[in-house]
Amino acid sequence: METMYLIGFMGAGKTSISQELAQRLSVPVYDTDKEIVKSRGKSINEIFATDGEAKFRELESEILRAMPPENAIVATGGGIVGVEKNRLFLSDKGNVVFLYTELNEIIKRLEGDDSRPLLRKGNLDAAKKLFRSRLPLYREAADIEIDTSGKSIPAIVDEIVERMKN
Ligand code: S3P
Repeated sequence: METMYLIGFMGAGKTSISQELAQRLSVPVYDTDKEIVKSRGKSINEIFATDGEAKFRELESEILRAMPPENAIVATGGGIVGVEKNRLFLSDKGNVVFLYTELNEIIKRLEGDDSRPLLRKGNLDAAKKLFRSRLPLYREAADIEIDTSGKSIPAIVDEIVERMKN
């Protein structure tokens, strides 16, 4: 199979869903954030603080292209579609799944989690703006869109597998 890419906002469940999907399809799973952390030997927060977001985006774009093109599941970082060449790269692929989750649900899920430099506490307005500005970008890059709101991970995986058959 062609590698399947999961895209969507922070907290949409890309990591957990990618793991379950990979198990279901018996293929390896990759996560662009984890690959970046591995290659730099520092956390995402540290990379943003010391190297800056632009450097992070460069690394993310490189990692995206280094992923196996076949027989894998790739979970991506929520901002990967902010870079035009990444949107073009993904648009060219036939297996890109946009996991849509309501912003209110995302905010609830990420309460108390400070691992994401762009969603720091008290930054609700900025998060709303970012969410709204990214929606059309996810839609531009994706082949299918799945609304994950209120659904269990196995149910979401069933839906992806079913829709990808068509
Ligand atoms: C980011 C999302 C994060 C991570 C970084 C930036 C973003 O990944 O890549 O904090 O710009 O939306 P997740 O979507 O896995 O949280």
